[in-house]
Amino acid sequence: MSQSQHTPPTYRNIRTLSRGLPATDGDGVKLTRIIGTPTLDMLDPFLLLDVFESDQPQDYIGGFPTHPHRGFETVTYLLAGNMRHKDSAGNEGVITPGGVQWMTAGRGIEHSEMPEQVEGLMKGFQLWVNLPSHAKMVSPSYQEFPPEQVAVEQHESGSSIRVISGTTNNGTTGPVVNEFVRPNYMDVQLVAGDVFEQRLQHTDNAFIYMVAGQGQLEGSEPMIEEGMLAVLSAGDTVRMKAQSNSRFLFISGAPLNEPVARGGPFVMNTKAEVLQAFADYQNGQFL
Ligand code: CO
Repeated sequence: MSQSQHTPPTYRNIRTLSRGLPATDGDGVKLTRIIGTPTLDMLDPFLLLDVFESDQPQDYIGGFPTHPHRGFETVTYLLAGNMRHKDSAGNEGVITPGGVQWMTAGRGIEHSEMPEQVEGLMKGFQLWVNLPSHAKMVSPSYQEFPPEQVAVEQHESGSSIRVISGTTNNGTTGPVVNEFVRPNYMDVQLVAGDVFEQRLQHTDNAFIYMVAGQGQLEGSEPMIEEGMLAVLSAGDTVRMKAQSNSRFLFISGAPLNEPVARGGPFVMNTKAEVLQAFADYQNGQFL
């Protein structure tokens, strides 16, 4: 028996509870910015979390025309709708509901993300994950998985966990690998009264975004309601009880603890590196 099985778990509580801010990005896409706002600038290593959800085409039809990135990773995960992705290196594909694209922009990529539909519901998330200084200039790469390649853990209760990255307590491992921040990215669906329990590194940063329903963390009084972001305190276990049928993202990662210099689509360690990124982009070195 390992030591950890004799030591009582330290449950993670709610550090802050917030809702995002309405924002517009790309060509007029309406979204809610959850991380990357004046009140929650970042949650190391996570630089941004956007949620988009609309069945009104004018809210999403403009998409995200060609734009560059350098120095971090973008993760697109869709719950509804289809998004066509194209980049300057000739890669192209369509992300479908339940599918994920984990793109390492590294030293630079220019891409577009456009709706592959003219009507109906579009719903999903974009998360930005920072890269450590030594990996900011790596070659761009993708980890892209259609819905059937995302690991699904089905419980007898009817609850399920879609695992994009990380390993559940029951040993279900997601397909995305990231050695830098060892992320957990799980889409959890619980039937009312059921419990999600997940071990993680004590000091990794973690959050829960409630997609639907409501739930309560072990040892925390406030209810996490639909549309709320709960940033979690330190601890080695998350224990979440669904108060109603609910769905939430559970995401965690090791903080990089490095200086962050942002300039729009470029995230580096220093201002000089951001200026260099703009210069390189102007000079066509992302192509
Ligand atoms: Co992009």
